[in-house]
Amino acid sequence: MSTAIEATGLTETQRQIVDLAREFARTKIEPHAAEWDRTAHFPRDVIDELGKLGFLGMGTPEAYDGMGLDTLTYLLALEELAAADASIAVSVSIHNAIPTTMLLRHGSPAQKERWLKPMARGELLAGFALSEPESGSDAASLSARAVRAGDHWVLAGTKAWATNGGTADVMMVMARTDRPEARRGAKGISTFIVPTDAAGYRPGKPEDKLGLRASNTTAIGLEDVRLPAEQLLGEEGQGFVYAMEGLDVGRLGIAIQAVGIARRALEHSVAYCAERQQFGQALREFEAVQFKLADMATRVEAARALGHLAAARRDRGEEITTQASMAKLFASETAMWVTTQAVQLFGGYGYMRDFPVEKLFRDAKVTEIYEGTSEIQRIVIARGLYPGA
Ligand code: CAA
Repeated sequence: MSTAIEATGLTETQRQIVDLAREFARTKIEPHAAEWDRTAHFPRDVIDELGKLGFLGMGTPEAYDGMGLDTLTYLLALEELAAADASIAVSVSIHNAIPTTMLLRHGSPAQKERWLKPMARGELLAGFALSEPESGSDAASLSARAVRAGDHWVLAGTKAWATNGGTADVMMVMARTDRPEARRGAKGISTFIVPTDAAGYRPGKPEDKLGLRASNTTAIGLEDVRLPAEQLLGEEGQGFVYAMEGLDVGRLGIAIQAVGIARRALEHSVAYCAERQQFGQALREFEAVQFKLADMATRVEAARALGHLAAARRDRGEEITTQASMAKLFASETAMWVTTQAVQLFGGYGYMRDFPVEKLFRDAKVTEIYEGTSEIQRIVIARGLYPGA
């Protein structure tokens, strides 16, 4: 079936990028997604191939070796990857959204040369480490520490649930640089560019997850990781703001990842309901089924539209904190709802691993949790209703 992407009318560049992403997804990702899910295999070679095609530098300007795409085009490509396998999409999304945005906005010329350019060329995979075992939604309460020692920083602590934690080449790590006796809340956090081959950087074993089983998620032990002073990103004490800015873009990526999951569940459902016969007719002949499919299609389209609106806003240079949270909230709850309906439509088959919708159902759940839970998105949206309060 056609998707709303076609209906919005694409520019020539967008058409080429969507075609490239869709073809890659169809031939190199989707045929293997069930196997990667079963074996919890992170296909770094596939990420590397995507990198060679430019998909790890989608929004990075050409001056820094990226594709220089606008946010909307980035989302169009990401949806294609997510519809094939949400695990691949999250790795690509985090890299493009958070570390890339942080470096672009706050990196020194030398940091951009050393990290941003190879990231955009797909030679380095990047990740982001904010959460900790005792600090999830309350991100500003994190306790990993960075202490200045001459011309070095020494990082110690434990990070949790970091996507690409065990597979990235470089991580953006948030750590406290205020003194324990003079805590400064969010203002006491700084961002460090940590190469993952640094001594003392210890990723845990890959987490055994409900969904997104092919993405690499680990804890990270920081055991006195010594970094040269120039690995501090931007200004000391501004790391929390940098993380939040990165998450604004990251949440848009997760919104569209959720749209990709929901769209695929809808496509499978439409095909199945045309084929499956019960009581002497195809399921699609039953009005109850038609209504379900209609609601699924409407919600997918609405979720995509919300993400695209936020992207257009960002491309006009406007602030998107509230809109990114709205897009993520609505799209992730849509993905959960649509995949639940898909499993129901498939009936007994929907519950079986041999059919594709149960994986989509499992993959959908985390979109309501990571990069800020649905509850956190509601807090951000509600705060936006009372600016300055
Ligand atoms: N852009 C720029 N600055 C921002 C900002 C944004 N979107 N949001 C907040 N800030 C600034 C504030 O203006 C404030 O600065 P000032 O004091 O100078 O005004 C500072 O950051 C602190 O902000 P708050 O007072 O709002 O902080 P808070 O403690 O109340 O927390 C929160 C706000 C929205 C709840 C935040 O903690 C949050 O988003 N929590 C969820 C964390 C999250 O999304 N974690 C996901 C981790 S990544 C992941 O999932 C792993 C993965 O790899 C996928």
